[in-house]
Amino acid sequence: MSFKEINIRDLKESPVKMISEDWTLISAGNADGWNTMTASWGGVGELWNKDVAFIFIRPQRYTYEFIEKSEYFTLSFFGGEKRDELALCGSVSGRDVNKAEKTGFTPVFDGDSVYIQQAKTVIVCRKLAFLDIDPKGFLNDKIMACYTNGDYHRMYVGQIVKVLTK
Ligand SMILES: Cc1cc2nc3c(=O)[nH]c(=O)nc-3n(C[C@H](O)[C@H](O)[C@H](O)COP(=O)(O)O)c2cc1C
Repeated sequence: MSFKEINIRDLKESPVKMISEDWTLISAGNADGWNTMTASWGGVGELWNKDVAFIFIRPQRYTYEFIEKSEYFTLSFFGGEKRDELALCGSVSGRDVNKAEKTGFTPVFDGDSVYIQQAKTVIVCRKLAFLDIDPKGFLNDKIMACYTNGDYHRMYVGQIVKVLTK
């Protein structure tokens, strides 16, 4: 089945559910090199008068290297399906394993972005900014439990430039 472009306002499902419960694959790179990883934190909204998505990536992720180098990142959603494949992409590193080979996922190279052919919905984002999480700003003691190794996320804010659905 092929993708058709829609407006982010016409998403059928809550983006909170799509990210937190169904999970997403964050991908970046191009035909010369790319990677993808599972994420369940992030969001979609409005910032700086633009429709945006924001994601949180720990610096040790292989995907971090591709997002740093790339102008774009993408979010691929599977509607609660492909759970085993998403669990794999969230538990091993692309440094050690060819995730496309292991999962059967096919990359679609679209300009300088890459997303997953088997996805039901894709959000393509152009990076606008990054912000490093600073524990000085934490107002709740429990948040620190997410950072026992001091590996604070880098938050990326991306302008939503394309939304695809099947
Ligand atoms: C459900 C789930 C959600 C995750 N969410 C995030 C996230 O939001 N940010 C992050 O940095 N890592 C997250 N991870 C961990 C990465 O997906 C995992 O470390 C992955 O193996 C990194 O792959 P890479 O080294 O190929 O980039 C999550 C893992 C799972 C299973």
